[in-house]
Amino acid sequence: MSEERKKLVEIKHLVKYFPIPRKITDVVSHKSQKSVKAVDDVTLDIYEDEILALVGESGCGKSSFARTIIRLYDPDSGQIIMNGQDITKLSKRDLRPIKKNSQMVFQDPYSSLNPRMMVGDMLREEFLYHNICPPEEVESKITDILDKVGLSQDAKDRFPSEFSGGQRQRIGIARALAVNPRLLIADEPVSALDISIQAQILNLLKDLQKEYSLTILFISHNLNVVYYIADRVAVMYLGKIVELGTTRDIYQNPLHPYTDILIKSSPNLDPRKREEAPAINGNPPSPIDIPPGCRFAKRCPFATDICHSKLPELKEITPGHTCACHRYD
Ligand SMILES: Nc1ncnc2c1ncn2[C@@H]1O[C@H](COP(=O)(O)OP(=O)(O)O)[C@@H](O)[C@H]1O
Ligand SMILES: [Mg+2]
Repeated sequence: MSEERKKLVEIKHLVKYFPIPRKITDVVSHKSQKSVKAVDDVTLDIYEDEILALVGESGCGKSSFARTIIRLYDPDSGQIIMNGQDITKLSKRDLRPIKKNSQMVFQDPYSSLNPRMMVGDMLREEFLYHNICPPEEVESKITDILDKVGLSQDAKDRFPSEFSGGQRQRIGIARALAVNPRLLIADEPVSALDISIQAQILNLLKDLQKEYSLTILFISHNLNVVYYIADRVAVMYLGKIVELGTTRDIYQNPLHPYTDILIKSSPNLDPRKREEAPAINGNPPSPIDIPPGCRFAKRCPFATDICHSKLPELKEITPGHTCACHRYD
């Protein structure tokens, strides 16, 4: 299916490490510089008009990946091609005109919204700063976007603190969409919300995706949340993608043992199907001292000798469904 679809973002062998500050004793004794391997050789395409979910436990590198592909962080190596243009090494200045093409919505909309600014002013600023429309059209644009995200018009004259969590997330979405981005990155956008509100925000994102032909990278640690919204799912473990496929493939036929466990341990959004989710056994290894072999081997019920010594490569198992696991060698 994917062959004819147009790629909005092509990510090739992306690496983002965070160096750990060295203690003076390490410097004196010539200990080598250690780093957190947050994103470790990720190759991934994001297609136009799709909702691609990126899932994995907290700390596996999802946010670092998202921030690196839009150059909020500089990658250590690899390549990012956005809409045909290689942006890997663009200077801050050259990045500016294309930055508005990618917008982010965050987990905690409150800390990402200026508490001293009324919603109307916040949106006005976006429209004017990015030159989205002539000044005389700004007010009608604001009316329009509030409508689209399901907020009433009097929201204009109110401060973020006057809204509930779900409404604040709608404000965050309005602000992100104001500049007409091609790519919307939603980083755990419902994780801080009551379960009853989560579905509303997911539906809103889904509707907006259609209406604006948006491409959405939807980040979550909960595989059951992404089931409602994603077209494809990429599963990340300790800085690497371990499985990628259509949402249907991932749920009906999870190939990687980690994916399977992640599905079973994710709380269900549907209250009728909710039961106590089993926890995943053990913790991932430290992203600083990564053992050789498969990164999941220590926690994997199927691990054999090879899993502890050789890193499995991401391979296409069925069309469009890839997995990095020695069980499919
Ligand atoms: N700015 C940073 N400086 C140093 N380490 C970081 C930074 N951001 C993230 N990390 C580390 O990188 C790893 C991945 O973090 P993150 O990308 O936030 O994961 P996730 O979003 O999946 O929870 C973690 O070990 C985290 O502590
Ligand atoms: Mg994160």
